[in-house]
Formats: sequence, structure tokens, C-alpha cells
Amino acid sequence: MAAYAVRADTEAPLDALVVGEIEPPSVPADWVRVHVKAAALNHHDVWSLRGVGLPADRLPMILGCDAAGVSDDGREVIVHAVINSPDFVGSDATFDPERSLLSERYPGTFATQVWVPSTNLVDKPPELSFTEAACLPTAWLTAYRMLFSQAGVRPGDTVLIQGAGGGVTTALITLGKQAGLRIWVTSRDEARGAQAVSLGAHQVFPNGARLPERVDAVMESVGAATWSHSINVLKPGGTLVICGATSGDNPSKAELTKIYFKPLRVIGSTMGTRDELIALTRMLATTGLRPQIDRILPLADATTGFAAMIAGDHFGKIIFEP
Ligand SMILES: NC(=O)c1ccc[n+]([C@@H]2O[C@H](COP(=O)([O-])OP(=O)(O)OC[C@H]3O[C@@H](n4cnc5c(N)ncnc54)[C@H](OP(=O)(O)O)[C@@H]3O)[C@@H](O)[C@H]2O)c1
Repeated sequence: MAAYAVRADTEAPLDALVVGEIEPPSVPADWVRVHVKAAALNHHDVWSLRGVGLPADRLPMILGCDAAGVSDDGREVIVHAVINSPDFVGSDATFDPERSLLSERYPGTFATQVWVPSTNLVDKPPELSFTEAACLPTAWLTAYRMLFSQAGVRPGDTVLIQGAGGGVTTALITLGKQAGLRIWVTSRDEARGAQAVSLGAHQVFPNGARLPERVDAVMESVGAATWSHSINVLKPGGTLVICGATSGDNPSKAELTKIYFKPLRVIGSTMGTRDELIALTRMLATTGLRPQIDRILPLADATTGFAAMIAGDHFGKIIFEP
């Protein structure tokens, strides 16, 4: 039983999704099996249905990057979704030019079972439920690395997060607040902005609004729709960390002059290392912070979850239980 892509459909991604029985996938012989207890939806899965990062010759492909479950030997685990090339040498998994995420080259987590290299398993702390743990490998790990490895901010600094209710943005709000940062958020919707404040944001603004003062760092995952604003609101010497481009990756103005004249640091960030994932699990266990869950659905009803994400109706993570 799985949720998988059978083709690419740029305009109607739901038409490319099938939920049902599929032949068990073939995977490298030395990989280990995890019985999935919970899996989390990411915008990455919508991109896959649109054909971004998932070429036709790899279809059908089981979707899903994130899972928590139980391995064959009874360990309660979280699956690190970054699959490195066996030849990769280096401590930072995200620098491997041959890396892939689960569901790009190897079958993903929206299934009753998933197989990964044993080095991709991280112990699930007993304090976290399977549902909470399933939120961590993509959105929460990406947010953790953006804030704590890339942004160069210190407690007391002001960070603007573009977007309110997404998986990455809710993680950024929660983690940033805990770390003593002043968290400002933009949203395209007033009600979602109010939810961001309930989650911990200090102030919320409409997309593109003039801010009370310039900020030390901007966390960008929206892309074209917010790019110019992100550049304009930074202090001289400020840092823009970008992990995605939900609204498009070709902004009408690249803002090159402002980037060098202010001068700004623009840092790309993708996922995170196994060590960062372990540190993130410790942070949640010790602080009591938990991911914002939008809804939990049976895997058989995955289409409903995808539809909510495509419509932008969710606030926090959407979870599938096989
Ligand atoms: N590089 C990586 O490793 C990595 C990891 C995770 C995610 N990503 C990328 O980051 C992006 C977010 O992922 P996600 O899973 O968090 O997605 P998501 O849950 O669907 O969240 C989408 C977010 O984008 C905002 N948004 C969407 N369209 C917008 C628009 N036109 N104008 C303003 N805001 C808009 C939403 O803000 P509101 O709540 O205000 O509506 C929401 O916060 C995706 O593009 C994904 O591919 C990359």
C-alpha cells in the first residue's frame, strides 16, 4: 500500500497521484527495512507530482521523504531522508553532488514499509511520538540548519520569516522563538498570520509590508513572490538564507545591485546532516517543543492531504498513517 506518482502533471498534480497497491520496490540488498508508523507530507512531494526532480524514467515512484517507524530489529527510528552516494567522502551529506532525497531515486516513505541504508536511521527519542518524529527529517531539519548553521544570528537578533503556515515556516517560528530570536513573519492571509503569532511569532505583517526596522536575517522559502522584499528589509551585512521557491524561482528583479552594495550574504541551504537531525531531536526532547500538526490522515486518504497543501489550506504538518 503506497501513495505514488505515475506521471508528471504540471497543471493538475493530483491527477498524477495514485494511492493503492504497488509491487514491492527493488532496493540495494544491504539496506534495512523500516515499518512506517507515520509519514509527513512536504511541498517536495507536490513538486514530484509536477515532475520537478522526478524524471519520467523513474516512474512509478513512491512519494514521501519523511518517516518514523520501527526497524526489523525493533528499534524506534526516524529516517534521515538524504541518501548519499556510496562513494561520497565528507562530513556534510548536503555537499554530495550525487545525493538524492528519498522518493527522487529510491522509493519514498508513503508506504507501509521503506528501505534505507542503516546509517540513515536515527533513534527516535521516547519523548517524541511517531507522528511528531515524522515531521523532522525534511521541514524541521531544513529549518534547524537554516537558523543555527547558516544564518549566523544570535539571541536578540531579528529574523524575518517569509510565509506563515508551511512546514518549514512553522518550524522556523518555533525553533527561532525558543532560541531567543525576535521572530517577525509575513503571511498572505490575516488568519494564518494570527496563527503564526499563537505559535510564537512576535509580530506578523502582510507580504511585502514596510517593517518597523531592518532585520538581521531573512528565512526565504517562498521565492519569486517575496524575493525583492527579502533583499530590501535586510540590514547592511545581513543574511538571506534560501531553501526553496514555492512561488517560482525566477523573480522579476534579481536585485543584484542591492545584494553587493548593502552588502548582503545570500546562502543556499538544503536539508541537513545526520548530526544536525540528532541535535534537533535532542532540542525537542529537552525543550518540550513539538511540531505544529495540521491534520493526521490514513495513508489511504493521502489525496486529501495533497489537495490541502496544493491549495495552501494547511497550517503545520500533514501526517499520513499507513
Ligand atoms: N532545500 C530543501 O532542503 C528544502 C526542504 C524543505 C522545503 N523546501 C522547499 O521550501 C518550500 C516550502 O516547503 P514546505 O514543505 O514548508 O511547503 P508548504 O508547507 O506548502 O508551505 C508553503 C509556504 O509558502 C508560503 N507561500 C506559498 N505561496 C506563496 C505566495 N505566493 N506568496 C507568499 N507566500 C507563499 C506559505 O505562506 P502562508 O502560510 O502565509 O500562506 C507557506 O508558509 C518548498 O518550495 C519546498 O520545496 C526545500
